[in-house]
Amino acid sequence: MINGPVQVFRFERFNDLVIKGMIRSAPLFFYILQTFCRNMNAALQFFDYAKWWIFSKIGRKDPLVNTMIIHFACNLRCKHCSVMASGDPPALKMSYDEIVSEMESKYKEGAKIMYFEGGETTMWKDGDKNLGDLIKKSKEIGYFNTGYTTNGTNKIYTNSDVISVSIDGPREIHDEIRGEGVFDKLMNTLDELEFDGSIFANMVIQKDNLAHIEETVKLIHENPKIKGGMFNFITPPPHEISLTPEEKKEAVDLLLELKERGYPILNSKKGLKLLAQEDWTEKCPYFMTSFTVAGGFHFNGCPMQGTDACKKCGFAAPREYYLVTKGDPLTIMELSALFAMSK
Ligand SMILES: C[S@@+](CC[C@H](N)C(=O)[O-])C[C@H]1O[C@@H](n2cnc3c(N)ncnc32)[C@H](O)[C@@H]1O
Ligand code: SF4
Repeated sequence: MINGPVQVFRFERFNDLVIKGMIRSAPLFFYILQTFCRNMNAALQFFDYAKWWIFSKIGRKDPLVNTMIIHFACNLRCKHCSVMASGDPPALKMSYDEIVSEMESKYKEGAKIMYFEGGETTMWKDGDKNLGDLIKKSKEIGYFNTGYTTNGTNKIYTNSDVISVSIDGPREIHDEIRGEGVFDKLMNTLDELEFDGSIFANMVIQKDNLAHIEETVKLIHENPKIKGGMFNFITPPPHEISLTPEEKKEAVDLLLELKERGYPILNSKKGLKLLAQEDWTEKCPYFMTSFTVAGGFHFNGCPMQGTDACKKCGFAAPREYYLVTKGDPLTIMELSALFAMSK
């Protein structure tokens, strides 16, 4: 039989060991808890996307992506820019209150991905409010993934989940399209950037950079800050620098080959093949994106719907959306991990 003091000693020793063990294993415990919560969050988000997809199959056409062109002002005048195609940009801007009310109403309709566009998106201001405040509000409303596109020459707001930077070629070509010194400014911005979300490159292939696709892919691959690139063709206007169907086919073949060799091309393989098909008037799943454009314009789907531009659509997104609505599992997995979840 164990006597009293020994029992007390053993009990205290046991307690001591448990407490020490708990202290030592606390970081591991919190790591497991954090991973569980993060995965729970990802699982819940995935479930919500699955629900949206099933409903879309039975005829409910709710928007999934909310895109807003919040203003048109820009510090650059890129050759291919559709915003600048008819001269200086219109002085139109959405106010903070308008943007918030639009974000809330589209969220209620089902949108889960919020994307801000411009003009130069980062230059948007309304009183003391800036793009960072819009991103913060988007998260408070409940959007799973918030992002924006930038030319990388202005302040970068790092509270988003995703940042898409425009890269249209190596230094000389990028500057020829976007203006002198723009490439170096963008690269400095990326070098100095501390961001815990994902940075993607967006390239618009046009006459001036058609012969520089491989160089651009390699440049994106070598930049440690960039996860990969999305490749688009110019959607006219402007018409002079847009591509022929044969040129598009060659570019797609090259991108497919580079993707096969392991370069970080984020367009899905099927999406790339569809990029060579020009007229998307009938195929575009317009309902997936709601579009609000400064000036009080609202579109269910692309603002170019039904225009001549639609017949020469070069945007990668509608191809990928199309594959998602068709239920292509590979595209859904690739895209959701990259563009749809919170960071
Ligand atoms: C309108 S810009 C706004 C954001 C920012 N100012 C920038 O340049 O990244 C958004 C994206 O659309 C692309 N873009 C502009 N005009 C286009 C066109 N005609 N066809 C296809 N993409 C275009 C730009 O290159 C950029 O990557
Ligand atoms: S920076 Fe963006 S919005 Fe400005 S001109 Fe270039 S593509 Fe257009």
